[in-house]
Amino acid sequence: MMSEEKVSAESIIIIVVPVLLGLLVIAGTFVLGKASNTESEVMPEVTAEYGERLLRDTVSLLGPDQPDANMRYTGNRLDCASCHLDTGNEPGTLSLLQSASRYPRFMGRENEERDLKDRINGCMQRSMNGRSFARDSIELAAMETYILDLGLKHAAMSEAKTVAVEPPAFIEPQRRADIAVGQIVYEQHCQICHGENGEGLKESTDISHGYLFPPLWGPDSYNNGAGMTRVLTAARFIKARMPLGDETLTDDEAYDVSAYMNSKPRPVKSNLELDYPDLTLKPVDSPYPPYADSFSQEQHRLGPFDPIREYYESLSSN
Ligand code: HEC
Ligand code: HEC
Repeated sequence: MMSEEKVSAESIIIIVVPVLLGLLVIAGTFVLGKASNTESEVMPEVTAEYGERLLRDTVSLLGPDQPDANMRYTGNRLDCASCHLDTGNEPGTLSLLQSASRYPRFMGRENEERDLKDRINGCMQRSMNGRSFARDSIELAAMETYILDLGLKHAAMSEAKTVAVEPPAFIEPQRRADIAVGQIVYEQHCQICHGENGEGLKESTDISHGYLFPPLWGPDSYNNGAGMTRVLTAARFIKARMPLGDETLTDDEAYDVSAYMNSKPRPVKSNLELDYPDLTLKPVDSPYPPYADSFSQEQHRLGPFDPIREYYESLSSN
């Protein structure tokens, strides 16, 4: 009996010790994991960290599914980083590295000087189809702080790092963009990620998680007053940044696919006719009227744009 008990006591030690050690390891990982989790949760304070999170996880922090109704700011389910890739960290198209140095500045759309906070609110109302933050909001100040920090980071970068790793800049074809050809480009190069109907690919069945591949049109996309609705703005972005990981489109393909994408339905912003109080400052590819010229809306949407530019140049040289 005694020896049997002794044996079982030994075996208990043999079994229990590794199990305890294992539990310790698991508990340790859990505690450490917890700690790093709370770290990545970032408090709603005016810090660059919170600002970066707002740009990256916009859908979950500010989206239409936010449990706290006061925090529902965006009307679609894009993140700022859907367009400002890598939360604006990469040099190149729609980078935010140098934005701090560009503001305040005069903006034709409002016909007045606008600062960085105004500019962020501009993307909130249009690209995000949402509402503006109050001037003194923590969220707006945190995003501003983040972008100011990017400016400092850019200033400290070595010259080699400030060069964008992108194809040559988009050169505008001197013709009307072709929506039908754009559809073919879409089917061949974009549909696999952005979906047959531009609806994107959801991150999970729970829509509050947003998208893995963001939608290009429809209710969860940018509205008809956004910069991305301008065919030249979109083509510059698409040539430089899409298809993600294989940026090989020609200028013609980028031009036509932009026209196709922007021929599709999307949320509508009211009062667009009030943009550009001085209509002579309206970009040639602004897709919505009124205009200070007699070119058709069609030509402002699709080009060719040089005849429109020449018209305005002839006005100013008279
Ligand atoms: C649908 C694409 C899209 C989304 C989403 C988007 N933006 Fe933008 N953003 C643009 C475009 C296009 C411009 C203007 C570029 C131009 O003037 O040609 C711009 C410009 C800006 C600028 C000015 C950059 C500069 O250097 O002049 C800031 C700052 C900015 N966005 C911040 C944000 C923030 C913050 C969010 C999220 C709340 C956001 N954007 C969401 C497309 C987008
Ligand atoms: C491999 C997948 C993939 C392909 C292919 C692809 N995209 Fe994207 N696209 C993305 C992702 C992902 C984003 C968001 C950026 C991010 O999360 O880093 C994006 C963002 C965009 C955006 C800005 C955000 C929005 O939803 O409006 C536009 C516009 C866009 N893509 C257009 C295109 C076009 C046009 C093509 C085809 C020429 C294309 N993309 C091909 C993955 C892809």
